[in-house]
Amino acid sequence: MIEWSEQFETKIEMVDTQHQRLFVLLNSLADCFTVGVPNEEMVEQVLRELQNYTNQHFTDEEAMMKERNIDPQFFAIHHMEHNSFIYDLSRLQLHISVDEDEVQTAEKLVHFITSWLVYHILGVDQVMAAQLRAIKQGMTPQQAYQANKTINRDAATMQLILTSVLDLWRGTAEHCRLLEEELLALKQST
Ligand SMILES: [Fe+2]
Repeated sequence: MIEWSEQFETKIEMVDTQHQRLFVLLNSLADCFTVGVPNEEMVEQVLRELQNYTNQHFTDEEAMMKERNIDPQFFAIHHMEHNSFIYDLSRLQLHISVDEDEVQTAEKLVHFITSWLVYHILGVDQVMAAQLRAIKQGMTPQQAYQANKTINRDAATMQLILTSVLDLWRGTAEHCRLLEEELLALKQST
């Protein structure tokens, strides 16, 4: 379960409202796995809702960045992060339908989305918010980008970011291990 707290706030109302809704949807998905065998139909429905809402959120956030003239270099990086999340999520989902152990894979999915959201909101989204504040205070988009490439975060926030990144890496490493096993099995069968 993921809990909303002040450290996730960007102080941009639309963004914070949508991020909170994402947390609610993610917790609904996690709820499907807390008691007994999950209802497959319900998992699919919540997951679909979460994906649709995520897509809408990315579209709204990107439109807002453009409207407020954020630096194009930063926009490209941010857009790439959004896109890679959509891609990774669709790849993981593919495994849900072919894997034998669906529950285990779906739990991995919840874990992945949680880690990614924490990493993204505390990372790139906070950098975005800092740049938009600087632009509002009179900096050019480029100055705002240069001045906020790295922002100061407290130790607790840094710990959360690093834990999330580690979780994402562990997930990738586990995926590589499974692929290696598959490859080995293929080699041995030929
Ligand atoms: Fe974002």
